[in-house]
Amino acid sequence: LRGRRSRPRAPFVARLSADLNAVVQQLQPAADDGTLRIGLIDRLQKLVHQISEAGTLQPFGSSVSGLHSKGADLDLTLVTDGAEMPKEVQQELVTRLAEVFEQSGQMENVQARPKARVPIVALQDKTTGLKCDICMCNMLAIQNSRLLRAYMTIDSRVRPLCFAIKYWAKRRAVNDPYRGSLSSYAWVLLAIHYLQTCEPPVLPCLQALRDVTHAETATMVDTHDGRQACCAVAVAARERAHLSLALLQFDCYYYSDIELVREAMARLHPLNQDGVGELLIGFFRRYTREFDFVKGVASIRTGRFLTKKDKNWTTKEAGVRGHLFCIEDPFEVTHDLGRVIGRDTLNDVRSELDRASQMLQDERLLEDVCELYVPP
Ligand code: CTP
Ligand code: MG
Repeated sequence: LRGRRSRPRAPFVARLSADLNAVVQQLQPAADDGTLRIGLIDRLQKLVHQISEAGTLQPFGSSVSGLHSKGADLDLTLVTDGAEMPKEVQQELVTRLAEVFEQSGQMENVQARPKARVPIVALQDKTTGLKCDICMCNMLAIQNSRLLRAYMTIDSRVRPLCFAIKYWAKRRAVNDPYRGSLSSYAWVLLAIHYLQTCEPPVLPCLQALRDVTHAETATMVDTHDGRQACCAVAVAARERAHLSLALLQFDCYYYSDIELVREAMARLHPLNQDGVGELLIGFFRRYTREFDFVKGVASIRTGRFLTKKDKNWTTKEAGVRGHLFCIEDPFEVTHDLGRVIGRDTLNDVRSELDRASQMLQDERLLEDVCELYVPP
């Protein structure tokens, strides 16, 4: 019977959409949150300037993508001249910055973690209470946060859906890469990938929109004028991206004229008119019944499913903590965000996905689906 369930009824789906929007609303930061974050960056920047060779602080993560909830940490990276910074230099800088922040008297709980895989300074601002992690020269993170922000602004359903999935993952304890589950970033990539590949799609693939002769561009922008404009902007944006990121080994281009993308998506036939509730049900169905965990790779870079074979991400090659749930980073294409998952924790993650999917099939409330997980 489980395999032959009918779709949830319309009144349930409508209630789910309303509940989801209400949860997202509750999670929103206060109106002055943006100002407080910018103010904190300015104050930290002044302190950074006390160390002459250090550069500019740039935000990344959820404050940039627009997916931060109330009180979320502020992720910052120090950007010097764009060149790569050797690990030893990062370690030294982290230690010196921590001293400066500590001496300022403005910050508390200042900790330098020079020996971490990614060296950081962690601190808490006394004025705003905001917690902040500062890493060194993470250009890819700046760029991937901007890509996420671009996806969030294409369609009004994307942000609430991603918010809800992040919230569910936190509540159900499957949002901790240090304990073998996925980062918020990885869950958001999965959500975007679902929206690119559902039928009909809600999102295009911004990294594939690079050339007018490319099939996707042609289907996306279906009028002659639109196609021309699309091409011109794609070329300009690509050149800009390549100039500023010339020193990176990864291609960080993505199509950035979101207004044009939005117009083109609105002209798609058929148009996806599902509410966020339906999309949430679809997301969980995707990762319980449709996604091929054995062979598949979710790739927002291509807007398609790749195979582990394509990527040479075979479990044999990787050992125990292998490629068990493959999620390709959009720019750092050699990085599988699912590498943190082991055999045991894969079961935990998949059983949480199954639980959510089953509860939604049974028309249970979002509140129950997101009930706080209490370890046995
Ligand atoms: N990031 C990354 N590679 C990872 C994990 C994170 O590049 N393996 C970068 C991304 O730029 C991401 C940012 O770090 O946007 C923050 O990641 P994360 O904390 O997982 O996402 P947030 O949306 O900031 O989540 P939260 O609100 O829970 O802090
Ligand atoms: Mg964060």
